[in-house]
Amino acid sequence: MKRLAVFTSGGDAPGMNACIRAVVRGAVYHGVEVFGIRRGYNGMINGDIFQMTSHSVSNIVQRGGTILKSARSKEFMTPEGRQKAHDQLIKHGIEGLVAIGGNGTFTGALKFFEEYQIPTVGAPGTIDNDLYGTDYTIGFDTAVNTALEAIDKIRDTADSHDRIFFIEVMGRDSGYIAIQSGIAGGAEMVMVPEVLTPISEVVETLKQGWSRSKSSSIIIVAEGDEEGNAAEVAEKIRTQVGVDVDMRVTTLGHIQRGGIPTAYDRILASRLGLGALEGLLNGEKNVMAGVVNNELRYTPFIDTIKLPKPINEDLLRMVRILSV
Ligand code: F6P
Repeated sequence: MKRLAVFTSGGDAPGMNACIRAVVRGAVYHGVEVFGIRRGYNGMINGDIFQMTSHSVSNIVQRGGTILKSARSKEFMTPEGRQKAHDQLIKHGIEGLVAIGGNGTFTGALKFFEEYQIPTVGAPGTIDNDLYGTDYTIGFDTAVNTALEAIDKIRDTADSHDRIFFIEVMGRDSGYIAIQSGIAGGAEMVMVPEVLTPISEVVETLKQGWSRSKSSSIIIVAEGDEEGNAAEVAEKIRTQVGVDVDMRVTTLGHIQRGGIPTAYDRILASRLGLGALEGLLNGEKNVMAGVVNNELRYTPFIDTIKLPKPINEDLLRMVRILSV
């Protein structure tokens, strides 16, 4: 392979820049020409493609966001969109792709390969940590630490005012951010999409706490929880408790997607970026580079897309025990 391109797609994640840097520098090291595609599949369709050098990725290892920008492309889901993208890759002489993103990104890459046989190797970039085939995704550790900093601050004011706080963290289909930030932040309960926590159970836990003179509580709610978002959960609890309790809701939102990546994320991103690049050069295709038990591993896109990544229910149990 003489020429390849790298792009970021889907929700951005801290550490994506460190990953781009590893792909570009790895390509330069191996004597392969490397191009960048801006705004994910949209840029592929529109020909927003430019040559990158070692210098293009100077001074970015510490930056959040993605210098290549990101998008969720509706046009790439259509055959016409993919045809345009293919035409642009041919025009630029690109023979292979490194895609940094999540499930949607890899679904697109697989479809594209079926039609045009352009090989793609992926690197898992999403704060959600919801991809089968890697223990951690790029951006997850930073997002957990961002959420944790906010939880610590909220705990101060919750304690001063004897209040119950419902804190909503990101995770449309995944409770990873909720569990990790909840444990580290000493939450009383963590509500996640993977395991139903009935409102009655939350009420029971709060009542037990009050009977032990607990005056403030933190409940972490993943945005995709089955009982609803944090505001809806709080409202249901207000109705069930019956007495007037002082409650507040905080939604952390997109602050979890930005910021300086942690050392862990920078190292993981560098490893996975180089792993994806070298996999592509060694003939891998339609696979995602991941780290499992601290070893680099390639998992077929079809598995990363289809197979669930179960959460560790022991951790949920631990939250309960530790809030006694
Ligand atoms: O996939 C990452 C993520 O941050 C999810 O946790 C969240 O549900 C979603 O993206 C939000 O997407 P958007 O930025 O398009 O609102």
